[in-house]
Amino acid sequence: MVSTKALVKVVEHPLVKYTLTRLRDYQTPSSEFRQLAIELGRFLVYEAMTELTQRAAKVETPIGPAQGTVLSDYVILAPVLRAGLVLAEGAQHLLPSARVYHVGLRRDESTLEAISYYARLPENLPTESRVFVLDPMLATGGSAVAAISLFAKMGVKEIHLVSFVAAPEGIKQVHSKYPTVKITTAAIDQGLNEHAYIVPGLGDAGDRSFGT
Ligand code: PRP
Ligand code: URA
Repeated sequence: MVSTKALVKVVEHPLVKYTLTRLRDYQTPSSEFRQLAIELGRFLVYEAMTELTQRAAKVETPIGPAQGTVLSDYVILAPVLRAGLVLAEGAQHLLPSARVYHVGLRRDESTLEAISYYARLPENLPTESRVFVLDPMLATGGSAVAAISLFAKMGVKEIHLVSFVAAPEGIKQVHSKYPTVKITTAAIDQGLNEHAYIVPGLGDAGDRSFGT
C-alpha cells in the first residue's frame, strides 16, 4: 500500500515560494493577486503533470527523423468554482488540448458543508482519463472530496488535486475518503482557525481573485 505521505508533493521551487508569498500578503491588490494566481497555477500543474503517460513517437525535423513522444492520457482539468478558475487559466496555457469540466461548489460558512450548484459532466469518460481537480484552498477538505467524488463515481482511477495551500485537516480528509489521490501543493500550513480558514493561508481565495 502506498503511504499517504508519498502522495503529497510540496513544490519547493524558489519561484513557487516567492509567488505564494506575494499571494499571502494582504496588501497585494486583487488585480495582481489574479495574475500571481495564474502563474502559481501554471507552476503547480506543471509539477503535477510529471506523471503524464508518454508513448514513443517518431517526428521529422527539417534535418531528419528524431525520436520523440506523444501524450496518451485523456487529460481533464476540473476547476472548482470560483477560485479554481484562475488555477485553470494557468493550466490551460500548459496543455491547451485538455478538456475542462467546471465544478460549482460553495462552502456553507455555517455548516462548512460543500454545496453543489453546477456540474455538467459527460455520462462516460474514457478509461485512460486523468483528472486534475484544481482548487487553491484545501481547508476542511469538504469541497475537494465533493469534486473528487464526481469523477471517482465515473470510474476514473487517476485523480490529482492541485492546491496553493493545504491544511493538514484537509489532506487527512481527502485521503480518508480517497487514499490514492495525489496532492500537489505549494505549502502545508499550520491548520484551521475557528471559522475553518487556513492559518496563515492567504484569506478568501475567491474574493481576493475576483475583488468581491
Ligand atoms: C473556498 C475554496 C475552496 C473551499 C475550501 O471556496 O476556493 O473551494 O473554500 O474549503 P473546504 O476545504 O473547507 O471545503 P468557497 O466556498 O469560498 O467559494 P468561492 O471559491 O466561490 O469563493
Ligand atoms: N476558503 C478560502 O478561500 N480560504 C480558506 O482559508 C478556507 C476556505
